[in-house]
Order: sequence, then structure tokens, then C-alpha cells
Amino acid sequence: MDNIAKILSDAGLENPAVAEYVAHWAGITEPAAIEVISAKDDDRLIAEGLATGEIAPAGDGLYYSRSYYKDTARSEERTVVATHNPQEAGIYNNWHDATEVTARQLESMKGASRSKTMYVVPYLMAPPKSPLEKWARGVELTDNLTVVLHMIRMARVGVEHLNNLENPAEFVRAVHVTGDLKNLGQGTDKDKRLFATVADERTILHFGSSYGGNALLGKIAHGLRQASYDGWASGEFLSEQFMLIGIKDKLKDHTYYVCGGFPSASGKTNLAMMLAPDALGDRYEVYFYGDDIVWLHVGEDGKIYGMNPEYGAFGVAKDTNWKSNPTAMDAIKEGSKTLFTNVAYNPETQELWWEGKTPDYPEDVTGWRDWKGEKISDRPADRQRCEAKGDEWAHPNSRFTTSLANVPNVAPDYEEPQGVPIDAIIFGGRVKDREPLIRAITDLAEGVYDGLTLGAQATFAAEGKEGVLRYDPMSMRPFMSYPEGDYATHWLKLIGSAKEQPIFAHVNWFQRDPEDGHFRWPGYRDNLRALLWLLDVKEGRAEGVQTPVGILPKKEELNLDGFEGDDADLDKLLSIDTDLWKKEMGYRREHLAQFKNLPEQIWAAHERIEQAFNA
Ligand code: GDP
Ligand code: PGA
Ligand code: MN
Ligand code: MN
Repeated sequence: MDNIAKILSDAGLENPAVAEYVAHWAGITEPAAIEVISAKDDDRLIAEGLATGEIAPAGDGLYYSRSYYKDTARSEERTVVATHNPQEAGIYNNWHDATEVTARQLESMKGASRSKTMYVVPYLMAPPKSPLEKWARGVELTDNLTVVLHMIRMARVGVEHLNNLENPAEFVRAVHVTGDLKNLGQGTDKDKRLFATVADERTILHFGSSYGGNALLGKIAHGLRQASYDGWASGEFLSEQFMLIGIKDKLKDHTYYVCGGFPSASGKTNLAMMLAPDALGDRYEVYFYGDDIVWLHVGEDGKIYGMNPEYGAFGVAKDTNWKSNPTAMDAIKEGSKTLFTNVAYNPETQELWWEGKTPDYPEDVTGWRDWKGEKISDRPADRQRCEAKGDEWAHPNSRFTTSLANVPNVAPDYEEPQGVPIDAIIFGGRVKDREPLIRAITDLAEGVYDGLTLGAQATFAAEGKEGVLRYDPMSMRPFMSYPEGDYATHWLKLIGSAKEQPIFAHVNWFQRDPEDGHFRWPGYRDNLRALLWLLDVKEGRAEGVQTPVGILPKKEELNLDGFEGDDADLDKLLSIDTDLWKKEMGYRREHLAQFKNLPEQIWAAHERIEQAFNA
């Protein structure tokens, strides 16, 4: 213990509660060494990773890592929230008893870091001096160097965040142990992995993965699961899987702030990095504030503020290219110190490639290896370009990890401690039919209802069947930490207490033509057109058409300057398919009926919509 306190103090970390915590877990996992990390250690750690081959060079100032092939996505089945109160079991939080879960994790973690280094990573999930700072401090203990490199990019990492605290013990204890990845029985009935947030002890115990979504505990487990629990338990804030952007109207010199939830791999990062369409660029500019997590609270002026607790972006590589997302391409360019995971790599040329980076596969397959490390040239000739699912060069959930400062459209005030005042909250997911391009919702209960009934086709960011429609309340299904009825109550109360109500909307960039499957909406940069209309509704500049599920744009109200989409497709996107919606209302009733203590206002919203369809 004395020894550990000295290691920490030599590294400038002077917090007795952290020393005690590190000593406790080092006693369990038995690492060979303990090292305290600050962001300034990045270059040295990169050099160490390159020397051991844990990461590989990918051109000037870019790095590549591969995760074990059975460890490429978040595992929702293996993720639990544990507390001491069984009443806190919801439908989606996968509630477990805290004592049992802790005992199990202790067993798995016992001696599991032998011969490895335990990195002590003190971090802050907020801009410094944020009003929510006390909820944002944490220390991740991890035995994985690549995880540390990710943490440095995704969170504010440094000893200063844990020193001189009023209450030194007030931080999230986040323990990550990689485990013997080849012997964990991933996906079998003897799966040894378990990713647990012991929410009422503010302790996170993750065992059995090195993939970012399971192992970056500041981001996923603290930033979302723990924080949403803390926000509810304290009544102070909401934590949601949201993106956050500013839309500046240069003519009026006014910036609007829009945040919103889309399930993983449904377009948050792309929306946050969006450039205005060329024809609209003279007038509008989009600013990046956040692409995956927003903490919402009521500011001193009584307005709702949204704040991004993260410091970087962990983006889906697939289909990222100079046309779809030039901002991302710029953010991950040479010199940015971006870390790529599970894309295809050519060790001879240090090039990287993923499906959709260029219209076609690299011409010459010499040297190229797929995300599993297998040589493309070893494949039969007809499989050298992937024709079928499962044969991709890059894993569909391959990622880039880069700091916010690299994002060219990052807002100049992205570190504003309290965040920015929110004008609009949107929800959306991948839905191939039924959901129109956008429907505006002006009533708070109907907005919260819309979030609770968010449905989307499942994606590759989590293990499981791709393409099946499932409900994903507020896009928080994988991160839900307390019961859904209480969740709705907390939302109604917190947003309802604000002096100015944000407008809500549901958007869908993913409707398809059933004939040939093409997307009816061109998406990406054109998404701004839908959001501009929403702000027009909020400001009383557009009236739209009232439907049972909200206000839809009249075509002439959309700014279509330079729009190259199809007119007939647009007509479809701006209409309601009543038959599909009536069926959907039945499913929604069943979905909501699962939730205990669902507030009466939510049921009333459901009834109102159902009656409007039947009128
Ligand atoms: P996130 O995981 O929610 O942040 O989603 P991303 O922004 O990373 O996008 C996930 C995938 O959806 C990527 O392959 C994107 O290319 C694709 N995508 C994002 N926005 C759009 C859009 O507006 N239209 C279409 N068709 N695809 C999109
Ligand atoms: P995503 O973030 O939402 O951008 O996919 C990572 C995740 O949720 O796993
Ligand atoms: Mn996410
Ligand atoms: Mn994203």
C-alpha cells in the first residue's frame, strides 16, 4: 500500500482514496507493474505499443490495431447493471444483484493481470469546471495499452482531475481486465465475459474484452450507464446517447443547438460532422459539439443545456469517404494521431482501407490483410473483392478514434463548461418504411413518448441480428441503467422544469424503396434541410401539415436549393402510411405495457395518437 501510494505520488497523483482503490484492485488482479497515466504520456505509450507490435504504424502519425476476432462489438447480452435494490430492475437494464455480480467479477479478475501492467487512468468526463464536474471524475484501471491510447483520445486524462478534491473519494471506480481473450467462450453458454456497472456503488467492473465499446469505461459505462443512473438518483441531469450540433444562420448571426438520439451506427457521428450542402453553405454552418453522449441539465437561467462529456470521436469507418463525410476524413488525416481498429491494413505500404473508403477495392491486393489479419492474396480470386456479407476486408464495426480538436467543424466553444442551450431534441433510427423524413412534435409528453417508442433496425455496432426492428428507448436501450417508467418521469420533470421547452422531432434518413432497396433520402449533408425546417417550425416560420404523429413539412417549406434527390421519393418521405402506423400503435402499446410506473402523461399521449388515427 505504501509502495502504491508512492507510485501514485511520484506521478503527481495525490489522492489517498485513489491510492486505496488502486491497492485494493492490484491485490486482486496482481499486475507485474503499476503505472499512472496522463495525456502527456501518449507519445511514449505509442512508441511502446509500436515496439511490441500491439499497434502498427499506418502512415505519418496514424496507428492501427486489431482486436481479437470474437471481440469486435459491444456485447449487450453480457452487460449488466447491478444495484442493491431489486426495485431498480427495468426491462432493458439487465438488473442484477450488486453483491452477486461483484463476487463473480472478483473471481474472474483474480490474478488475471499477472505479468501485465496495470495502467491507472484518471479522467474527467466533462469540460473542466463544468457544473456537472462532480459526476464526471473517474479512474480507469486497465491492463491493456491500446485501451489507454483510446482513453487518452476519448476523455480528458490526467492526474490533475483527481487532485485537490473537496471529497477525495468522489470518483467512479472503473476496473477493466482484458482476460484471456482466446479462452473466454465468447457467444457460448460458458461465456466468461461480464460487463457490469455497479451503479449504486459508482463502480464499474468489466471483464473479458479489449474492444472500445466494452473497454473504454469513461465513455460507455461511466458516460452513459453510470451517469444516467447518477442523473436520476440525484435528480440533477440526464445522460443520453445523443449527438449535439450548432447550426449557425450566418444571415441572422444566430446559432441554434440541436441534440438527439440515434442508436449505434445510425448516423450520430455523421450528423455531427455534417457540412451544409454546397448551395446552403453561404448561409449556414454546422458546428460539432458531440457525437455520442450528451448530459442535459437546467442552467442557472432556467434553460436546458446540453454538454458533451467526451474529448474525442469513436466513429464507424465503413462508408466514411471524402464525399459522405469529408469532415471525418480530415479529422483522421496524417498527423492526427488517429487510432484505427479492425479496418484492412497493408503492412508493406502502411495503408488502411475499409468498405466505402473508395468506390472500389484497392486494385492491387499485394500486401493487404483483412481485419482478421488474413492475407487477401490467400483468398480465392473470386473472393478477393468481398461479394457477400462476412467477407469484408474491414469489419463492419471497424472504427477510428480521434480527438475532438482534430474535427475541423468542432465548435470554437466546445469546452464551454455548462454546454449550450438546447433548441431541439430529435430521435431517429434506421427504419426502412413507415417513418417519414421528419415529424415535428411540440408537446413535451408526446416528445418523451416518441423517444420511448424509438424503434430501429438493429445494427452491427452490437452483437446480434442485423436488420431486425427493435425498440430502443431514447437510443439508450444498451445503456439503460434504471427502470423505464422512472426514466420517463425523470425526463418529464427535468425538461418540464425548464423555462423554455425545446421542440422535439423524429427523423428518418433510412427509408427505402421496397422495389430496389435504394435509400429514398440522399442523407448526410442533405439532412440539414430537414433540421432547418424544424427550426422554422419552432420559430413560427413554417406551419407544416398536422398528422396524428406530429407536423410534417409541406414540400415547399423545405429548403431544396441544389437538392439532387428524387422528387417522387420525396413525396413518399413527406407522407404518412396510415396502415403501417395503425399496426405500429398496437406494437407500441405492448412495448409500453412492459414498463412499470409509466407516467400517465405518456399513456395519454399514446391514446391521443391512437384516437387521431382512428378518427
Ligand atoms: P453513429 O454510430 O450513430 O455515430 O453512426 P455513424 O454516423 O457512424 O454512421 C453509421 C453508418 O451509417 C455509417 O456507415 C454511415 O456511413 C451511415 N450513415 C450515416 N448517416 C447516414 C445518412 O444520412 N444516410 C445513409 N444512407 N447512411 C448514413
Ligand atoms: P456509436 O458509438 O453510437 O457511434 O456507434 C459507439 C457505441 O455506441 O458502441
Ligand atoms: Mn454510441
Ligand atoms: Mn458515432
